[in-house]
Amino acid sequence: MKPLTLCLCICLAFTLLDCSQTKKEVEVKEPSLKEALKDKFLIGTALNLNQIWGKDTLAVNIVKRQFSAIVAENCMKSMYLQPKEGEFYFNDADRFVDFGEQNGLFITGHTLIWHSQAPGWFFTDDKGKDVSKKVLIERIKNHITTVISRYKGRIKGWDVVNEAILDDGSWRDSKFYQIIGEDFIPLAFRFAHEADPDAELYYNDYNEWHAGKRDAIVKLIKSLKDSGLRIDAVGMQGHIGMDYPNLEEYKAAIDAYVSAGVKVMITELDLSALPSPRQKNIGANVSDTAAYRQEMNPYTGGLPDSVATAWTQRMGDFFNLFIANSEHIKRVTLWGVMDADSWKNDYPMPGRTDYALLFDREYKAKQIVKEIIEKANANSDTTTNSK
Ligand code: XIL
Repeated sequence: MKPLTLCLCICLAFTLLDCSQTKKEVEVKEPSLKEALKDKFLIGTALNLNQIWGKDTLAVNIVKRQFSAIVAENCMKSMYLQPKEGEFYFNDADRFVDFGEQNGLFITGHTLIWHSQAPGWFFTDDKGKDVSKKVLIERIKNHITTVISRYKGRIKGWDVVNEAILDDGSWRDSKFYQIIGEDFIPLAFRFAHEADPDAELYYNDYNEWHAGKRDAIVKLIKSLKDSGLRIDAVGMQGHIGMDYPNLEEYKAAIDAYVSAGVKVMITELDLSALPSPRQKNIGANVSDTAAYRQEMNPYTGGLPDSVATAWTQRMGDFFNLFIANSEHIKRVTLWGVMDADSWKNDYPMPGRTDYALLFDREYKAKQIVKEIIEKANANSDTTTNSK
């Protein structure tokens, strides 16, 4: 080899080495959501079965790198955990809890008492008739005690009761309510606390920014506390849209729950980019669905830039609110890892292409991820400076 060629080769080798080092450094240094937000709140995600069982490795990598908390999207609901009376199925939930522990994640149990995704047998006798109040209370107690005891000390917080109050503040006319009356709520909280006195206990619901629902939940928190029962936080599901709710009503709800003496968790955050098929009755009531209409599914080929920008802006506004109120917010959990996983593709209208989460269909972090990290860092700077 001629001296000049040799020299060029050496230079090239150094340049490549240098580049790969720089790339490595960039990879190592690139901040994650959980690092940026660690002084603010836990940042969580719901996991589906493909993630729980490690089949979706790309999503699993994102969870490990970006998130500090997990919740099971479906497998801990009563129809899956106790499909027949006394016959519990724990394989998926066990795996979910193992995954959380192995990766140092805060684990939430979702959900113990909910009218939806509950098995039919829960409320009926062998003739198909509603069971008595006494029997239903026994079943609630047995379900809660068995499930919480299994994960005692490992699952740190439970959505004890989900969606018991309607938007206008009245009680939901569920089987729990019809058979037991409003007492099913304090009973569930009591059984949960008895099963694991160290576990945090939450009331979880959607549309909790609606004034009627908000005031009824404040009343509920006070009455649980007056009865000496433990309630640590209100879980605000956070299934939001481009034009609902407004930030002021959301902030007013956070303030109301904090004044009632509990923390707030944003438990099921997703921001639909799609038009809402319902003018009224927006929210996340699982049974309120609408038939597919082509014109309600406008972005099958990708999100236009203008909509993506508006989406990023709106999600950013919500994160500004969460960061500004991080003293009271313990956790913000996304309802899924990436857009293709989101239940919003099928709710309230089946078969649509939605863009509700922080990672896109190629598992790439959206622009908002960078912005959330910047917002968190900027807030830390001002907090540190003002101290
Ligand atoms: C949803 C899941 O995401 C769907 O996969 C399932 O088909 C229905 O339930 N409120 C809740 C969540 O508390 O458990 C719901 O999750 C969404 C609304």
